[in-house]
Amino acid sequence: MEVIEDITLMKNCCRKKKLEKKKIGFVATMGALHEGHLSLIERARESSDFVVVSIFVNPTQFGPEEDFKSYPRNLTMDLKLCQEQAVDVVFVPSEEKMYPEGFPPRVEVKDRLTEILEGASRPNHFGGVVTVVAKLFNIILPDVSYFGEKDYQQALVIKKMVKDLHMDVEIVLSPTVREKDGLACSSRNKYLTLEERKAAKVLFKSLLAAKAAIEEGEKESYRIIPSMERLIKEEKLAKIDYIAIVDPENLEKVEKIKDKVLIALAVKIGKTRLIDNMLI
Ligand code: PAJ
Repeated sequence: MEVIEDITLMKNCCRKKKLEKKKIGFVATMGALHEGHLSLIERARESSDFVVVSIFVNPTQFGPEEDFKSYPRNLTMDLKLCQEQAVDVVFVPSEEKMYPEGFPPRVEVKDRLTEILEGASRPNHFGGVVTVVAKLFNIILPDVSYFGEKDYQQALVIKKMVKDLHMDVEIVLSPTVREKDGLACSSRNKYLTLEERKAAKVLFKSLLAAKAAIEEGEKESYRIIPSMERLIKEEKLAKIDYIAIVDPENLEKVEKIKDKVLIALAVKIGKTRLIDNMLI
């Protein structure tokens, strides 16, 4: 396994693989790798000849009050895990090389998709995500790139960018990997104290309750959302940011459930903001 920091080296390496007609599979991450990331890498390994994983805590996608500084970083462990997954190259660029001119200019997906849900709670977040992913795609030129359903909206925004900018990369979504008790794996779970970790189960619990209600014939979002809210509020450490029942194609609110829906929520447990969702 090779570890490359330099952008030109990374470009040359990928262009060589392209000339050799190798299929490049790419997984973008911010490190602190967990089972969720590993599942994406595994899928890339299965479907591609050459697997690139990037590890870069991207400053432009964090708001000024957010956790960029404290975001968990553990490169030694991450590299060990990548090695075990038979990754070909881990790309670990520096902030200075990725943003030589400071943070702007940005690539933006100006669309309702980036203004609702996470976009409403975290202004500029998707601008930062799209900018860094566009840069990474230009450097790596992947044939296929895997993204987690855990960040469902992010994956839709990236799909939109790829379509709008005519990029030659297939975006594949991969199911959310969960801990034994249902909590979605996330690098931010590391922030939780023992007590908070227990409380965090309520996100999945509320999604399961909504799923059960829908399967029993409940169709009205105005009844499902308040019952999820009640359940979450029983947990003293939890503070709801949003709960939404939306169309999985465009993330617009669904009042009456007729077809597939996505239930998405963001909840703060103590100081840690967690997101989760379920396709039903
Ligand atoms: P990060 O949070 O490190 O996630 C990297 C990838 O792993 C994303 O596609 C995310 O959806 C996926 N992922 C995270 N938790 C998962 C889980 N429990 N199950 C399955 N997949 C999971 O998302 C980012 O980084 C950044 O925004 C990035 C795209 C790298 C741009 O900076």
